[in-house]
Amino acid sequence: MKTNEVRFGAAKDQLIIFDTTLRDGEQSPGASMTKEEKVRIAKQLERMRVDVIEAGFPAASNGDFESVKAVADVIKDSTVCGLARALEKDIARAGEALRGANSGRIHTFIATSPIHMEKKLRMTPDQVVEQAVKAVQWARQWTDNVEFSPEDAGRSDLDFLCRVLEAVIAAGARTVNIPDTVGYNMPWQFGGLIKNLREKIPNSDQAVFSVHCHNDLGLAVANSLSAVLNGARQVECTVNGLGERAGNASLEEIVMAVRTRQDMFSCDSRIDTTQIVPASRLVSGITGFAVQPNKAIVGANAFAHESGIHQDGVLKHRETYEIMRAEDVGWSTNKMVLGKHSGRNAFKTRLKELGIELDSEEAWNAAFARFKDLADKKHEIFDEDLHALVSDEATFA
Ligand code: KIV
Ligand code: ZN
Repeated sequence: MKTNEVRFGAAKDQLIIFDTTLRDGEQSPGASMTKEEKVRIAKQLERMRVDVIEAGFPAASNGDFESVKAVADVIKDSTVCGLARALEKDIARAGEALRGANSGRIHTFIATSPIHMEKKLRMTPDQVVEQAVKAVQWARQWTDNVEFSPEDAGRSDLDFLCRVLEAVIAAGARTVNIPDTVGYNMPWQFGGLIKNLREKIPNSDQAVFSVHCHNDLGLAVANSLSAVLNGARQVECTVNGLGERAGNASLEEIVMAVRTRQDMFSCDSRIDTTQIVPASRLVSGITGFAVQPNKAIVGANAFAHESGIHQDGVLKHRETYEIMRAEDVGWSTNKMVLGKHSGRNAFKTRLKELGIELDSEEAWNAAFARFKDLADKKHEIFDEDLHALVSDEATFA
């Protein structure tokens, strides 16, 4: 049934979390995923209460079409989105892939920066506006839930951006996403851009403003938060900040920054934050992209205390050195150090935290015996050792 509601059920003070791990994250060199792997990650994102899951780019390959279709067919509680260039054939491919979705969205894009229009698209600005409007109209033939992105908005002319966005909103785009495609913007500049766009575009209240920031200068999260302070109500992000080049804005950092600093934000996400660490482990296990130990929220040391002064402070009162609770993002309270004195329970718990499952009791017993042998030779058993110990028979939850 067609509905013209702008936010598709999301409350006004809700920050919509749009996860693109399976699309932009997968564009990270070496991170490509099979259909089954995408479905596993999508289910975890659904469990985490992500609002929109961008499952892939159906026109990119038959494999990606099948992956988006498989995700669309199984996910019930999150909207499933497919990316499409502003071409009728791409949009039709995305529409086909999303046919089985409970709630589907087509995300179409075309570049608007002078360098992209002239050197890549070889189109005039007028042609770009016309193509953008046609793309939204084609997408609207498949669904009311259409998102439009002016690629490289971060380097586009403000007046031209206003012109394109006003036209696509009039054509029926219900989300307009502003990408800083090459991670060029500064936080105060990007926040100002969102403010200007919302003020200058006459029909801006008919669409949700979204942002999509890349991390080339390490500013993707800061730019996204600045945009939220200036009225953006959807953030596009990835688990572990996976993505092209230096990656995308990290989901866990955005969600926890907004949740922890509610004194600063007039919105919050619906994310079940206790599912963050399991999601991080799953994505890292599937892609083989390790998470750096000092990575905020999901790094192994994010809630570890090493120096005596800090340990003393935390033992007296956790908030002396902790602004979030480890348990709230999915860590267990204590960071267990595994060694020769550890028991079967600690061993099994740690493997499960890493998203590793073994098929049978015999497999657990054999792995535990190998662990004990290794612990006799090493002071401490690290996660990499555990992965190596079970690499032949492990499955990832
Ligand atoms: O970075 C980018 O501009 C994109 C668009 C397709 C949204 O990924
Ligand atoms: Zn991107």
